[in-house]
Amino acid sequence: MKKAMFIPMLLALSATMSFAAPYKAELKLASATSMSHTYNVGAQYFAKLVSERTGGRITFKLFPDGQLGKGERELLEAVQQGSIDVYVGSTGPLGGFSPSIQILDIPFLFRDYGHVDKVLDGSIGNSLLADLDKVQMKGLAFWENGFRNLTNSKKVIKTPADARGLKIRTMENPVHIQAWKTAGVNPTPMAWGEVYGALQQGVIDGQENPVAVILQVKVYEVQKQLALTQHVYSPAVLIMSARRWNQMPKEDQEIVLQAAKEGAVYQRNLGRQNEEQMLAELQKNGVTVTRDVDKAAWVAAMKPAFDAFSAQFGKEKIDAILNTK
Ligand code: PAF
Repeated sequence: MKKAMFIPMLLALSATMSFAAPYKAELKLASATSMSHTYNVGAQYFAKLVSERTGGRITFKLFPDGQLGKGERELLEAVQQGSIDVYVGSTGPLGGFSPSIQILDIPFLFRDYGHVDKVLDGSIGNSLLADLDKVQMKGLAFWENGFRNLTNSKKVIKTPADARGLKIRTMENPVHIQAWKTAGVNPTPMAWGEVYGALQQGVIDGQENPVAVILQVKVYEVQKQLALTQHVYSPAVLIMSARRWNQMPKEDQEIVLQAAKEGAVYQRNLGRQNEEQMLAELQKNGVTVTRDVDKAAWVAAMKPAFDAFSAQFGKEKIDAILNTK
């Protein structure tokens, strides 16, 4: 071949070949809870899977304890804007971004963990995660916050009548706020990062959260009463900013998605298996754990809220959740 032809052919060939460097990134993964909480133990497991499976090209730096925002709403805003890459946290404030997800926060909707897994990992959960695509978020998987319980500094609580008039911090979630109002309690929505101080100063009488959260934040330093009301199941989600997600090659997206699902199984089990041990730890720190709450009375007290939300979200959708077996 003549030299004059060879050089243009070489140039044309190199133009069609891709010499792009493999995708590489260190992603910011943020949460409102401490490093010892199940979200972050699960996040470390998830990060390890992704790092191993991408040969260290994709790694995560964890920012626990609300370092990047004083509550979960702020963290979600940052994910939506793309200044945080990944969020692990409750669905509490997520309804402000994607309203359909609030259906999961209705009190006394889930019977037990088996029921939770079937709904969240089935078509209902998948479609709620897919709705996040519309608001610049990629829902990777449902993780778990857990069944919420009531703590307070005033008295033993068994019935809604015992709790009447108490000022209780709730998440910034209209479903929760309405349910507490209906039960005669005075709900005070507040970012999580402000709750410990508010309890300490007596600005609020109590708060409600799953046992794992109550233990990791050392609520026992400021509240000695815990009633196992289990009034609502609080799902958690692992979410990536759409901007970051769209930058990733397809093969890496698949690795991340698969690790998020495996992380979900691992993280959910952490809280479930250790609940009794965590309760014992709380008791050791002077907390009175009230197990014999009047569940029927709580269900009845929150029923008007349940009915109102059935109408709002559509009875057929609520029934689809209730009838999932
Ligand atoms: O109560 C809340 O705000 C949430 O349950 C918490 C503690 C941030 C965990 O998701």
